[in-house]
Amino acid sequence: MGQRSDRQLDHCTRSIASADNQMAQKILLTGGAGYIGSHTYVALIEAGFEVVILDNFSNSNPSVLIRLGQITRQNQVICYEGSVLDKALLAQIFTEHDISAVIHFAALKAVGESVEQPLAYFSTNITGLLCLFETIKTAGIKHLVFSSSATVYGEPEEVPISETAPLQFTNPYGFTKVASEQILTQAAAADPWAFGVLRYFNPAGAHPSGLIGEDPFDIPNNLMPYIAKVASGALPHLNVFGNDYDTRDGTGERDYIHVCDLAQGHVLSLQKLLSTHEGHVVNLGTGQAYSVLEMNAAYGEAVGRDLPYVIAPRRPGDVPTCLADVRKAKKVLGFETQFGLADMCQSSWNWIETQAPS
Ligand code: UD1
Repeated sequence: MGQRSDRQLDHCTRSIASADNQMAQKILLTGGAGYIGSHTYVALIEAGFEVVILDNFSNSNPSVLIRLGQITRQNQVICYEGSVLDKALLAQIFTEHDISAVIHFAALKAVGESVEQPLAYFSTNITGLLCLFETIKTAGIKHLVFSSSATVYGEPEEVPISETAPLQFTNPYGFTKVASEQILTQAAAADPWAFGVLRYFNPAGAHPSGLIGEDPFDIPNNLMPYIAKVASGALPHLNVFGNDYDTRDGTGERDYIHVCDLAQGHVLSLQKLLSTHEGHVVNLGTGQAYSVLEMNAAYGEAVGRDLPYVIAPRRPGDVPTCLADVRKAKKVLGFETQFGLADMCQSSWNWIETQAPS
């Protein structure tokens, strides 16, 4: 398992060792304690990988590590506490572990905050990627899965949005995702790297165990965690940002994807990279859009009562409809979603009601 680091956190739960682990490839998950990272951790362990996490807990809670151990029945969840900007720590991880590939989640992701603090976004999201690159190049790693976002499509001209749509950005956060994708493309042209670029649509829901889920530190920006806080009574009502869009009911339509399906997409991407050494850029969505009012009603059904909302002005920068063309993900990765809207709402509510740290 390598030498213990001062900053390595061990969390003992149950001691169940799998014989398969001796053969398992080891994956570094930067940001592995976060919302999507933690669900991907579980999916990777279930697929037979070993995992090392690097996380600075800037938007996650260290108790996630204990919960990951419980879900995966591991006696040890290996996590280094620190930043992707810390090159010495990155080098230490690669010295202490025989890493086969990296999944890079660690990044800042709040659009409004990125407008107020663009330099923080450039530093964490772009310099962080470059620091990681420097280390993986030295370590001889060839495969990396990158967390991108449908935000790279900006205001799309056509929906469903295919991967060939032009890339645009409307804020510093979006800029960092477009720039990172371009860095990956140009780096792969010069060195024998293969990257899986995954453009997430709107992640929602939680692990069915109720042990991990989305746990934003501040008032949520995104729709489902906001509705969850209304349902729990922490917020009085949902503000519906505009009901005069050219959509089915006038409110914004998005392609919500269950976080466990999204996690599975990472496993497929990684397996594709490791088995074929072929890079890919794919959308991860369901191909089905729901409006804000439909989401609020579906969450209300999971909770068992109507949830209050008021119509508010449009949010600057919002598009009417964002919907994935999912054909490429199916063709290239064999990716298909398993969960629907009711699963997303029920699992989210299960997480909020029973487990979310206050
Ligand atoms: C937002 C970001 C996007 C980012 C994505 C994932 C903006 C403009 N876009 O996308 O760059 O990649 O999150 O983190 O911030 N809504 C309400 N009330 C709320 C919250 C949201 O009505 O309190 C509506 C929005 O107007 C939108 C829908 O719900 O129509 C979904 O919003 P959200 O969850 O923030 O996701 P995106 O806007 O798709």
